Amino acid sequence: MLLHDGAASARNTDHTTNTGSAEAMVAPWFAARRPGHTLPQPLYTTRAAFDFDMTAIFGTSWLLVGFTCELPRPGSTLAEMVGPWPILLVHDKSGTIRGFHNSCRHRGSILCKPGQHQAPRLICPYHNWTYDLDGRLLAAPRMPEEFDKSDHGLRPIHVRCVSGLIFVCLADEAPEFDTFAAHLEDYIAPHALETGKLAAQSTLVEYANWKLVMENGRECYHCITRHPELAATFPVAMSRHFEGSNAAQTFADAMVEADLAATPIEGDWWQLARFGLNPGVETLSMDGKPLVKKPMLARDDTHVGSMRLAVDPHSFLHATTDHVFLFNAMPVGPTETHVHAKWIVRGDAVEGEDYDRDALMELWTITNGQDKELAENNQTGVNSPGYTPGPYSPDAEMLAQRFTDWYCDKAAEYLGRTGTAAA
Ligand code: FES
Ligand SMILES: [Fe+2]
Repeated sequence: MLLHDGAASARNTDHTTNTGSAEAMVAPWFAARRPGHTLPQPLYTTRAAFDFDMTAIFGTSWLLVGFTCELPRPGSTLAEMVGPWPILLVHDKSGTIRGFHNSCRHRGSILCKPGQHQAPRLICPYHNWTYDLDGRLLAAPRMPEEFDKSDHGLRPIHVRCVSGLIFVCLADEAPEFDTFAAHLEDYIAPHALETGKLAAQSTLVEYANWKLVMENGRECYHCITRHPELAATFPVAMSRHFEGSNAAQTFADAMVEADLAATPIEGDWWQLARFGLNPGVETLSMDGKPLVKKPMLARDDTHVGSMRLAVDPHSFLHATTDHVFLFNAMPVGPTETHVHAKWIVRGDAVEGEDYDRDALMELWTITNGQDKELAENNQTGVNSPGYTPGPYSPDAEMLAQRFTDWYCDKAAEYLGRTGTAAA
């Protein structure tokens, strides 16, 4: 298993996109899609589908890329990859978190390698062009007198921060966000993520198309047999919105009492719910016991289940009484995806005293490793000339189907806008 700390390497080999021809190529594949079934083979295997997905899906969606506690003070920066595209988040002098394309306005070098950094200004490592934290170009040595620095600021991207979560959108015009933000705040604010800290992170390289990774992450059909460790605490038999347990009403009543939002709610690209964990279980861990002595939630009762956020195209998050876990899948190539995992704990929790880092990571590291194998097996089988799209279980794979439905709808919308009919 390839699992390593830190952000993914920026050195990917083929990042060219040729979306004009990609659109023409993918349109018939979308037209051939059978409702209720997995996707036609080329959508999981080809460079054209990858190029299209980057432009039409990742280039137009709100993406959950991290936490404000990763940029704790002015001058903190966080460089991430959105697929093949480098972005840079910056905590500026006024306390605002801004986002930019991580590409110097001189000859295009990245300004920062992926990961967290701290600096009073952004200095390009190539020829020292220097930018203020708000993206303005401050200095460009040896450029002619008439050179206009004000024309060469960093190119911004959309950023929205909600209760400690950071979302970005690379489109010129971002989709509507406020409705989602208002609901998300209701559910996540009690977890006090703004005062949390990043306790651990990992990147897992999966040799599978990003949609296979996400379909796998959206269903628990496989969990009971393939994730025995997760099944000890997670109610793996549940389906849409994780409802269905006998204790669901009791849990819902307890959440009303605790003043915690729990009712499932969704928009077309997001879902929110708080659901009960297995009986007697306090958190998502190997034994159901808290992993961090200092809770994130200021509640006497620690049986508050898990608050689940799912964001299409690429992520989910579980917020429990003592920690928050983020799963974020970034496409790297047609059959390569990097799964970034992050664990947040209370800001004043001390490693070695209040939590053990390895224990904190154990359950999801095991689970993600199991999922890597499942997704890679899936990819190898999908590559077969014998593959034909198969039916989802309407009960057990409802959320995987929801994901591919959303993906196809978003693709059709994009093809419609660009005049490439999927028919
Ligand atoms: S590419 Fe950045 S200063 Fe030259
Ligand atoms: Fe899984």
